[in-house]
Amino acid sequence: MKVVHTIEELRDQLRGQLHVSFVPTMGNLHAGHLALMKLARQHGSPVVASIFVNRLQFGPNEDFDRYPRTLESDIEKLERERDVYVLFAPRESEMYPEPQSFQIQPPSDLGGILEGEFRPGFFMGVGTVVLKLFSCVQPRVAVFGKKDYQQLMVVRSMCRQFQLPVNILAHETVRDHDGLALSSRNVYLSEAERAEAPRLYALLQRIQDQLKQGCADREQLEGEALADLSGRGWQVDYVSLRRQRDLGIPTAEEIRAGEPLVTLAAAKLGATRLIDNLEMRYGE
Ligand code: PAJ
Repeated sequence: MKVVHTIEELRDQLRGQLHVSFVPTMGNLHAGHLALMKLARQHGSPVVASIFVNRLQFGPNEDFDRYPRTLESDIEKLERERDVYVLFAPRESEMYPEPQSFQIQPPSDLGGILEGEFRPGFFMGVGTVVLKLFSCVQPRVAVFGKKDYQQLMVVRSMCRQFQLPVNILAHETVRDHDGLALSSRNVYLSEAERAEAPRLYALLQRIQDQLKQGCADREQLEGEALADLSGRGWQVDYVSLRRQRDLGIPTAEEIRAGEPLVTLAAAKLGATRLIDNLEMRYGE
């Protein structure tokens, strides 16, 4: 695997390659990231991965400075897996040589809800860096995780509307043995918090079960999960049952008609903010 830090080196490595597939990350790689790279390799080669902690998508009170940066061990993991041909790990001055005054502004009905409501500017930062990374790598295929469900939808809709020639593939969320979605931020959890953390997914599964058994009362389903988490000391940003196709709020009729749904949740356990989601359908 070649590790490059500049766009020029990246272009040199990829000259003449027409089937590049790409996995953008912020590093501190775990089995979820590595699974994305395996999928990328099945859909085109060479595979390019990037590691770049993108300041633009962090709010002023978020964890940009303490976000785990573990390039050496990330490189070792990638070398072991042998799926990645080029790792692009640019410095900040390479990606942002001047203030980024042109920005991608996702539409508010997609980028301003859920994560966008609680993290203003987040999807602007994601959209802008993903577009820049796509323009550096020029991939035919790019792989994103369903773990960040709304991000996946923002990227898909950005590609569609800008007619970018990139096929966006989604990978299922990779979980630990107890259901907790793998995340670079899990390293922040204390032992007690780590033991509590799987509850988020357990509650999503409970909503899935209740829907299956014929409960179409969205507010009841959301409210019970929220009360459960709050009662155990979580600070809940949202637990929200949405339509898969546009993340809009489904009516009871749509729910009963079998509209594909997804429940998305974000909540803080101590100082650590966790997100998760689960696709589901009424009566299934
Ligand atoms: P990061 O959080 O490092 O995630 C990189 C990719 O890995 C994303 O597509 C994310 O959805 C996926 N991923 C993370 N955890 C996963 C899991 N447990 N199972 C499956 N996939 C998982 O998302 C970002 O970085 C950034 O916003 C980025 C797109 C790189 C732009 O800066």
